[in-house]
Amino acid sequence: MEPFRIRPACPGDLDDILVVEDESFDPAIRESREIFRERLEVFPAGFVVLEGPDGLAGYLCSELWNRDGAPGTADFALGHSARARHRPAGRVLYVSSYGILRALRGRGLGKLLFREFLDFADRSLSFDEVLLLVSGTWTGARAIYEAEGFRHALTVPGFFRFSDGTAADGIVLRRPRVRDSTDAASAPMMVDKELP
Ligand SMILES: CC(C)(COP(=O)(O)OP(=O)(O)OC[C@H]1O[C@@H](n2cnc3c(N)ncnc32)[C@H](O)[C@@H]1OP(=O)(O)O)[C@@H](O)C(=O)NCCC(=O)NCCS
Repeated sequence: MEPFRIRPACPGDLDDILVVEDESFDPAIRESREIFRERLEVFPAGFVVLEGPDGLAGYLCSELWNRDGAPGTADFALGHSARARHRPAGRVLYVSSYGILRALRGRGLGKLLFREFLDFADRSLSFDEVLLLVSGTWTGARAIYEAEGFRHALTVPGFFRFSDGTAADGIVLRRPRVRDSTDAASAPMMVDKELP
């Protein structure tokens, strides 16, 4: 594999991060420069980029949340303020967004970035579980999460509203910080929907 590595994101990466964002998400659900700037200010330790020989290849950002009990629909809102939500002592690591440049997809880099981030978080952050929200239609991302041991926690019906007028359920996935060693990677995650 080419020399791709993750490193902490910095303000000078914002333009490149926004290119990945534009290539990764429908216009109706893209986050703005201000949202990314805020995420970087609020929790730089949870914001990484994947860098390759030709520059930035992807990004992943996260927040720490306080949350007792099971996640609920009210926990998730597109464009929510990281400043309002992030708690430095929170025990839930929420992956708020993640993407790879379109031209570089399908060669293992998405898997690499996600895996490296989990390793990095395990070494440098304090938390009990990892949580994320994915569209039921994003099969690539769901395959990566399933392989890393994430399991279904909640379905938010019609959460994503796309610019073509269609909608998709939001699927909340979770995994304990330390993956259960008895948890087979091939165990079914999609209790509500199967990958096509
Ligand atoms: C999700 C994303 C980051 C994956 O990056 P990538 O570099 O293409 O992924 P990889 O090449 O590492 O593939 C990882 C695994 O997913 C599988 N996969 C990738 N795309 C897939 C697809 N469309 N359908 C099914 N499986 C897929 C691959 O087969 C691979 O599994 P394998 O190693 O067992 O063969 C990338 O597609 C992306 O940026 N998508 C848009 C943004 C997005 O969905 N972000 C996640 C938000 S929750």
